[in-house]
Amino acid sequence: MSKTAELHYDGKSYQIPVVEGTENEKALDISRIRAESGLITLDKGFKNTGSTESAITFLNGEEGILRYRGYAIEDLAEKSSFIEVAFLLIYGELPTTEELKDFQERIVHHTLVHEDVKSILDGFPSKAHPMGVLSSLVSSLTAFYPKSLDPNRSKEQVDGTIIRILAKLPTLAAWSYKNRMRQPVVYPNNNLDYCSNFLRMMFGLPTEEFDVNPVVSKALDKLLILHADHEQNCSASTVRIVGSSHASLYASVSAGIAALWGPLHGGANQAVIEMLEAIRKDGGDISKYVAKAKDKSDSFRLMGFGHRVYKNFDPRATIIKKAADEVLAELGVKDPVLDIAKQLEEIALKDEYFVARGLYPNVDFYSGIIYRALGIPTDMFTVMFALGRLPGWVAQWKEMRENNEPIGRPRQVYQGHTRRDYVNIANR
Ligand code: ACO
Repeated sequence: MSKTAELHYDGKSYQIPVVEGTENEKALDISRIRAESGLITLDKGFKNTGSTESAITFLNGEEGILRYRGYAIEDLAEKSSFIEVAFLLIYGELPTTEELKDFQERIVHHTLVHEDVKSILDGFPSKAHPMGVLSSLVSSLTAFYPKSLDPNRSKEQVDGTIIRILAKLPTLAAWSYKNRMRQPVVYPNNNLDYCSNFLRMMFGLPTEEFDVNPVVSKALDKLLILHADHEQNCSASTVRIVGSSHASLYASVSAGIAALWGPLHGGANQAVIEMLEAIRKDGGDISKYVAKAKDKSDSFRLMGFGHRVYKNFDPRATIIKKAADEVLAELGVKDPVLDIAKQLEEIALKDEYFVARGLYPNVDFYSGIIYRALGIPTDMFTVMFALGRLPGWVAQWKEMRENNEPIGRPRQVYQGHTRRDYVNIANR
């Protein structure tokens, strides 16, 4: 028999069904509570609110567990590839050899974008942040594929949109960088794998041969796996909520990119390096910045520290830290900013303030360091995150649509004026 919890309010009691997940997570299903008692729940920032039941990603912040479709992130990062992980997240199972080949071929077939996208790109000033450019270009794809506007079309048509966005995002991401550099765009080379193709489009020139460094390509593939999904985070929730109004996949992902951009979410990887640079320029006094982060009258926070759900350690950070050390050694990178990062990590991890609040380096602390070592410019860091997160957004959007979830529409507790009479402007 399913369990219930009891709510006592105003002399009456109400039964609240308890929903149990496959990992024994328990939730109160309060969907009927307003109809029965007149009460709603209030939870700013959704810190303790489940917005859906999902079968994509499991994470346990207390124990530092992250699994995609049941597979441990540690295994996937070590043994899988980003394309295989994308298939797993979107379709629910690891692909067979045939399925993977077919998936890859279909993606390769769609990497080019319409020539007119270039004129949209040309309209952006070179100072435009690549995240803004990327979000706009993804949204613009609806203009080139108007049938995608209807997400209720056949499964095959929706799947075509999914393949297209996976194929085109690296091209659009690399081109957003080309706009920044005011360089001519490089077209995709379909003989290359996903990451190598992206690196060539980003760093190559149309007139010259470009050899992709396999160390860089492999490290990037691992980074993308680690970022591929993270259950109901800010951008995934945005994608789901936008998609819940039956907006297209392109529009929903474009909104997800915008949500990811902020420094409290994906933008933290850029903010980490900017913070480390600022510390270096200010003489490298790390304790001064640790003190600032602890001072409640100072809005400064240690970027790359803390996480909404991980209060022990971020399993992605553990993998990335090791990968960062390997990549730096293999590429022979020496960088004073990296030394500051290491010292900062050491000091903060021992500091009572950070320990008491469970503030540990998160994935963005180390990913910024790795991206820098790979030669990726700072304002492209969050774009790299978006590339990695795309399969997660697609999987979340697809699951939400397939489960026919209702439009997302939270309630509120109104705290404004009660009714008052309009006052003519002359009498104010
Ligand atoms: N530096 C200093 N103090 C911090 C930090 C930090 N980076 N993060 C949290 N705190 C403190 C808060 O001031 C608060 O202290 P208090 O209890 O004395 O008031 C306590 O820790 C809890 O912080 P909250 O903001 O309530 O925690 P929340 O879960 O809402 O925020 C967040 C999580 C946004 C990630 C936060 O830790 C932060 O701003 N970190 C820096 C930005 C960052 O690295 N973001 C990337 C997250 S990972 C990702 O999105 C992929």
